[in-house]
Amino acid sequence: MKVSIIGAGAVGATLAQRVLESGLADVVLLDIVKNMAIGKAFDLSDAAPLAGHECSIAGTDDYKEISGSDVVVITAGFARKPGMTREDLIAKNAGIVKGVSENIKRYAPDSIVIVVTNPLDTMTYLARAATGFARQKVFGMAGELDGSRFIYLIARELKVPRSSVQTYMLGSHGDTMVPVLSKTTISGRPVSGLIPKDKLDSIVKRTRDRGAEIVSLLVSGSAYYSPSAAAFKMTAAILRDTKKTMVASVCLDGEYGLKDVAIGVPCKIGKKGIEKIVELELSEAEDAHFRASAKAIKSSIAIL
Ligand code: APR
Repeated sequence: MKVSIIGAGAVGATLAQRVLESGLADVVLLDIVKNMAIGKAFDLSDAAPLAGHECSIAGTDDYKEISGSDVVVITAGFARKPGMTREDLIAKNAGIVKGVSENIKRYAPDSIVIVVTNPLDTMTYLARAATGFARQKVFGMAGELDGSRFIYLIARELKVPRSSVQTYMLGSHGDTMVPVLSKTTISGRPVSGLIPKDKLDSIVKRTRDRGAEIVSLLVSGSAYYSPSAAAFKMTAAILRDTKKTMVASVCLDGEYGLKDVAIGVPCKIGKKGIEKIVELELSEAEDAHFRASAKAIKSSIAIL
């Protein structure tokens, strides 16, 4: 199996490490800064005997090397600086993602593409359009990351194992993300009966602002351990053909009554990419929130 990662920065290089150490695939790490990608590939190669895998990694700036990829992950682009929203990245990242997508179309036309670059939903929509691939083959990583952040904070509050918490974080990867509280459970018990409303509201807010909280603490750069972990989870679901349900940003075509927007919804992910979009029954308030989120993403797409 072969995974190409476009952008050898913090998210891309950490994802490369995760893929290699899983033993699932060989990796091509491509960056516009050629020597940096080569240097990181050398460093990751030197770690292989210690990490105990036999996978190979190459660093490059040449798109020919991504040919034959099963999965291509787009992490190229600018990360936020303190005080910026993800939407503030549109102008800089749209040109990058468009160029990257055109190269994927040319050199890896049979690959499944996972978008990580922000603003996530808008960049996913753009990558789908620029590759011209079926919508099942181009989707974005965000809901799994936001869900993981939410699960971590809930489990910490209740002092329960993280594995006992189930949730869905739908909508945009931004201020209008939609926690589906009606389907958030701890060992099968609804969260609303376990955490008082004001505390739950503050956990939701902290989850929504978690990326910005981390950006402000890091001073330079944005989160990368958790984004790369979520991107790896999706990559592994494709390579292992698990068909597990996870939240991905996908271009809707009538599902949830929406069209012409990429937005986070639960999907079954396998070797063909998005193999099924799951239409959850939402409460009235969650449905209204989801629609408002779609509207916000559409106005961001309109800027393109
Ligand atoms: N082609 C290839 N690589 C590019 C291009 C391009 N056209 N433009 C920029 N890059 C590379 C940069 O050289 C850099 O190495 O993308 C990399 C981005 O790495 P970082 O700056 O470390 O950013 P990172 O933290 O990895 O985030 C990347 O993911 O989570 C999102 O918001 C985040 O949009 C950002 C993206």
